[in-house]
Amino acid sequence: MPLAIRLMRRQDISQVIEIDHEAFPIEWPPTNFVRELGNKLAYYIVAYETQKVNLRPNPKPTEKERPVRLFDRLQSLFSRRQTPQDMSSKEEPQILGYAGMWIMVDEAHITSIASRKEQRHQGIGEAMLICLIEMAMKHQARIVTLEVRASNQIAQNLYYKFNFDQLGTRKSYYLDNKEDAVIMSTEYIGSPSFKEKFRQTKKDYYQKWGAITNKVTG
Ligand SMILES: CC(C)(COP(=O)(O)OP(=O)(O)OC[C@H]1O[C@@H](n2cnc3c(N)ncnc32)[C@H](O)[C@@H]1OP(=O)(O)O)[C@@H](O)C(=O)NCCC(=O)NCCS
Repeated sequence: MPLAIRLMRRQDISQVIEIDHEAFPIEWPPTNFVRELGNKLAYYIVAYETQKVNLRPNPKPTEKERPVRLFDRLQSLFSRRQTPQDMSSKEEPQILGYAGMWIMVDEAHITSIASRKEQRHQGIGEAMLICLIEMAMKHQARIVTLEVRASNQIAQNLYYKFNFDQLGTRKSYYLDNKEDAVIMSTEYIGSPSFKEKFRQTKKDYYQKWGAITNKVTG
């Protein structure tokens, strides 16, 4: 599918919360995306399909979604003034995935990455990871790191594909079930060996899934 990636905007937040809730159902409270968009260290991106114009006319929330949307609206009201753009009923493309990263001095730390459940294993996660690594390179970070649940083999596969290695574990890191976190990191992303492997992984990606319209790093 022809994918595009751009920085997250406030009007994406309700869709991002849907994806976040579906991907991390037991982690509560959810990320405060309104606050994160104002955080100078944080970079959040969204992936959406470009050609198939899959427009959402601001659907009425279902019973299940209502508490999340209400929470999101309350957050918007109390966290910052809404802009007319936020309040418009303009149609928006369907967001297929989102990811976030903090860049602190020379370390880029991936805070989350998730794609819509019904759209998984179609290259969306990989496209977003490519974009995050390129952003980390652009900001001259030395390494990209993250924590992942020890049981989350699917996400670990994705990171291994991009040459992350396990550095260690944090015992009982996740409060809900006391699960360990695996710490994963790249080598120095400016090194010729990382750059070459990254170039090759990207080439394989484009051959398999086609080009990404990357509005973040170009
Ligand atoms: C992890 C996640 C973001 C991957 O997104 P995705 O859009 O499905 O990823 P892609 O289609 O780009 O897959 C890229 C790679 O991930 C791994 N992967 C994806 N789905 C997989 C599956 N069902 N089984 C095994 N590996 C899988 C593979 O290495 C895959 O490469 P391949 O196509 O060569 O096999 C997605 O599964 C998700 O949202 N999970 C819930 C949230 C989560 O766990 N996030 C990570 C927190 S650290």
